[in-house]
Amino acid sequence: MSTVHVVALGGSLLRPEEAEARSLWMGRLRQLMVHLEGNGRRVGLVVGGGLPAREGIELASSSVTDTHRLDQIGIAATRLNATILQQLLLEIGCDVASTIPHTIDEARALLEAHHIVVMGGTVPGHTTDTVAVKLAAAVHARHCIIATNVAHVYSKDPRHHDDAEAIHEMTLEELGAITGVGTPLEPGASAVVDPVAVGVAIEAGLDLAVLDGRDIARLDDALEGNLFEGTIIKA
Ligand code: UTP
Repeated sequence: MSTVHVVALGGSLLRPEEAEARSLWMGRLRQLMVHLEGNGRRVGLVVGGGLPAREGIELASSSVTDTHRLDQIGIAATRLNATILQQLLLEIGCDVASTIPHTIDEARALLEAHHIVVMGGTVPGHTTDTVAVKLAAAVHARHCIIATNVAHVYSKDPRHHDDAEAIHEMTLEELGAITGVGTPLEPGASAVVDPVAVGVAIEAGLDLAVLDGRDIARLDDALEGNLFEGTIIKA
């Protein structure tokens, strides 16, 4: 199989507040996908649930206590966002799988038949970061790129600590010391990288790249194997 890339795209990236930023971002992402496809690359895009996931989980959470049920709402939102990107790419004639896979095996098989596969979540108990790391391991991708709305992994939560420092390179163990390893987040809760995903990456010996997906140039650099602005996390 030709080079395969797997990118976890944070759900918040699809909905910048201003409409202008939204269409700019979508346009740049489409250009990048066309370019990658033209170069014969294969790309698995694993899309997060963002706002609809948080809203849906919030709406149900006063009446639904079973966390797996809340996770199912989150999964439905991730598939909604995945469908939006899938249709955008089909519209411009990209070779995108016409189904949204629900399992890693299905996604792997679709990536053998198409240049681009877009998916959301799979099963309760983790976020789309974990889906992306599992898919990257299954297709032997060089690394799993986590495109989110922060520029780096930081030494502490930068929203609460002014002295948080951006980290440019670290190991999976060091990341695990910040995020935790293997313990699922609450439905709808977020962390720079899902601790379950960190655990899967450690088991698979898979490098991660965390970057700000609002700037498509950074994603492009990481996909090309160039130096990129963000955090490289070595197995
Ligand atoms: P996300 O992957 O969107 O979580 O899943 P996130 O880390 O908040 O990502 P952003 O903000 O979109 O970047 C949203 C919720 O959907 C459920 C979980 O409840 C998760 O919190 N989910 C998602 C699953 O249970 N399984 C999956 O495979 C994916």
